[in-house]
This record gives sequence, structure tokens and C-alpha cells, in this order.
Amino acid sequence: MRQDHYLLILAAGKGTRMHSQKPKVLHTLLGTPMLELVLHTASAIFGERIAVVTGFGAEEVESLFPHCNFIRQSRQLGTGDALKTALPFLQEKCATRLTVINGDMPLLSEDVLRDFLDKSHAADIAFASIKPQDAASYGRVVRRNNNLVGIVEARDYDPALHGPITGEVNSGVYDLRLSAVSPFIDDLKNDNESGEYYITDLISMGLNAGLRVEAVLEPDYRFFLGVNSPKELAEAEDILAERVNSKLLASGVTLHDCRTVRISPTVEIEPGVEISGPAQISGTSVISANSVIAPFCVIRDSEIRGATIESFSHITGAKIENGAKVGPYARLRPGAHLARNSHVGNFVELKKAYLGEKAKANHLAYIGDAHVGEGTNIGAGTITCNYDGTSKHNTTIGAHSFIGSNTALVAPVSIGNKAVIAAGSTITKDVKDNELGVARERQVNLPWRKK
Ligand code: UD1
Ligand code: CA
Repeated sequence: MRQDHYLLILAAGKGTRMHSQKPKVLHTLLGTPMLELVLHTASAIFGERIAVVTGFGAEEVESLFPHCNFIRQSRQLGTGDALKTALPFLQEKCATRLTVINGDMPLLSEDVLRDFLDKSHAADIAFASIKPQDAASYGRVVRRNNNLVGIVEARDYDPALHGPITGEVNSGVYDLRLSAVSPFIDDLKNDNESGEYYITDLISMGLNAGLRVEAVLEPDYRFFLGVNSPKELAEAEDILAERVNSKLLASGVTLHDCRTVRISPTVEIEPGVEISGPAQISGTSVISANSVIAPFCVIRDSEIRGATIESFSHITGAKIENGAKVGPYARLRPGAHLARNSHVGNFVELKKAYLGEKAKANHLAYIGDAHVGEGTNIGAGTITCNYDGTSKHNTTIGAHSFIGSNTALVAPVSIGNKAVIAAGSTITKDVKDNELGVARERQVNLPWRKK
């Protein structure tokens, strides 16, 4: 890929047909925002030579992708206007060729996009056309004697004028030689049913000017479907899930109750992993060989390196090392790090907490902003009281210590190695190595009934 070839993602539209206040490109498939899926595909080919046009909900969209180039389209005047808005950025980068993708195309894959670019590279203007089952709202490709004439949007289409419908439509992926196309962008008109400037008008303009304009008919329309409504989102999500699962199965990942396993294409899973549905795994998660994921787990942005995750565990932003056991019913929040062979059991929550090798928190505990040394046992009902109403504070617990049940560790506080905390203690002072910390009322037994 040439260094002066850029990619532009059009993502400024509101997505009116979604009936949602959320910008359309932030709607998720398999737990991953549509725009993240498009960026994932695009960056595999274009690296950092990518810009995204934002408009509706721009701040919300931009805040999710801090490393991306964004170009603001102040008013959503149409896809042609979105392209025009990007021209100064492209000139500054000395871009000569530009691929444009609608931001609502989450099914596009790296292979398919590469293949399109191989076929389109010699054209001044090229676009990918498809023949979907339902061509309803797509821009229609108009041909005369099989020669390309232009694209006419569905609502502007008049069979008397444009001829019988062929079923071939515009997918919303374009490849443009910028110096050839730029002169026409200023001349785009909005005298159509929507009152918008259409990028698609470049096709007829280019043809009239004698440019080399090509429709590249793509054999599998399912990579090019646009998502405009909740129904289309659900259909796209099913297609994506099936595609991801087929690839995983072929690579040697075992999936039980496969149809209920929903794994985002952004996730990496090694052969030899065993996952039972229903399951949702998304974001930047990486799951290494020998990991076993039981049914009803939700995992996002986490590393699982050969660990066992029992049912109903909810894991976000966590790292779990070899031989560790989690759940059932565990909750690992961002910054939870479980070392080798550690155990986290039912109704245990960890946040920004390290649990050392072979350390255990098997029942009913909250460990937040904490460091727990190897071999330490955290009793049921233990709470690190990390928040004083204003700030968060840390708790440090050494190796091979024993924290009795129902202990409140009021942070900041530190417990040494091989220390013991008596059950039911509220610990506010540090406990040193080998000490026993007891912080509770002594039990008194009083006479009560006569025999
Ligand atoms: C568009 C195409 C249509 C094609 C279809 C494929 C045009 C005029 N029509 O129609 O030919 O068949 O995609 O899915 O391009 N956007 C902006 N700024 C705007 C308007 C839209 O950035 O001012 C973005 C949207 O966020 C969206 C993309 O452009 O990601 C396409 O817009 P959308 O309204 O979905 O176009 P379609 O009606 O689907
Ligand atoms: Ca669309």
C-alpha cells in the first residue's frame, strides 16, 4: 500500500432510522461499536493513514478513539459534503489516492477490502457494487447497454427515466484518484429528493468528463451490507457472529452451543481454547490455549492466559494468568490481575487489584486498589475499604498471610507477610510480618436463663 493512499470513514450522520440518541456508528455488534469494527479492518491495511468524518455526537465518538484523526463536518449536508470537508486534511497529508467507506459497514473484512483495492487501483473513480437480496434503500447502479451511467439514490429513482431496476446497487465503498476527482467535489449539487450533496454523483460527473470510472461487482454482498435500522443491525450481527465462529472452529477452538457464542472479530483466541455458550467476548480480549470458559460469561478487553472461568463470571479489563480459576459468579473489573494458580470464587469482586500466585479469595469479598502477595488466603466477607468518601486508598497484603472472614481493611493499610487477621476485625492500623491482628470486641458470655 502506497504511503500517499489514505482512507476516509464517513461517520457524521445521525442514523435517524436507528431511532436512537446514540450516534449510529457507536451502536455495537457483538459488543463492539460499529466504528471500531470498521477501524479494525481499515487499520490492518492503512495503518495510521485513516481519518474519520464526525458530526452528530462528535465528541462522544471522538472520545472513544483517542488515537484517530477526526475531521468535523459541522452540518450533515450529505456524503458528498462529508468528502469535501476532508479535503484540506488530505491536501495537508499530500494524499493522492483516497478510499472512502461509509461508517455503517461493519461487515467489511480486510481480505475483501484488499481484494476490492486490487481491482480498483487503476481507475480514477471506482466503487464496489453488490446485488443484495433486498436492494430497497441502496443507491441503484444505472447502466445503459451494460455501460455504467451513474448511481441514482432509491428515493430519486424513476424507472421511466432510469430504466428497469437491475438489482445492482452501490455498497458505499469508493476508491478515488484525488487529483482527478477534486475538481468535481465543489460542483456537487443538492437538487435531489433529500436536499443532500451525494458522493455518488461523482460517478456520472466522472463519466461525463471522460474519466476511467468502474463499478467493481462484488460476489458476496454480505461483506458490504449497510446498517441503517435495528433490524439491519441484528441481521449484520448474526452474519458477523457466524463468520467469526466458523473461523475459530476451523482454527481449532472448541465452541459448545455455538449459535449462542458471540465473539467480536477484534478478539484473539488461540487454538485449543474451549468456550461454552451462551458467551459474550469482545474488545481487545486475548484468550490463550488451554483456557476454558464455562457458559454465561461476559468478557471484555481482558487477557486470559490458560485459565478456567466458571459460569456467570463478568470480566472487564482484567489479566488472568496460567492455572488461575475464576468463578462461578465472579466479577473482575479493570486492573484486576490474577497471577498463576490463584483462585477467585463466587461473589468476589476485584478492581485494580493484584492477587499473587496461589492466593485465594474464594467467597464473598471486595478487593479494590490492593496488592495481595502469593499464597495469601482472603476469607469470606473480606472488604478492602478503599474509599473514604473523597479519595481512593491502597491496601497491601504480604505473602502467605491469612485474612479471617468478615474483615474490613480500612485503607490505606498494610498487612505484612505470614500475618493473620482474626475474623470479624476492622483493621485500621498496619499489621507487621508474622503478627496476629485482632480488632474486635472480646466476647462476653453472661448468665441469661435459669435452668
Ligand atoms: C449511501 C449511498 C448509497 C449506498 C448506501 C450503501 C449516498 C448519497 N448514498 O446511502 O448510494 O447504496 O450508502 O450503504 O452516499 N454521512 C456523513 N455525513 C453526512 C451524511 C452521511 O458522514 O452528511 C455518513 C453516515 O454517517 C454514514 C454514511 O455517511 O456512515 C452513509 O450515510 P447514510 O445516510 O447511511 O447513506 P445511505 O442512505 O445508506
Ligand atoms: Ca447507510
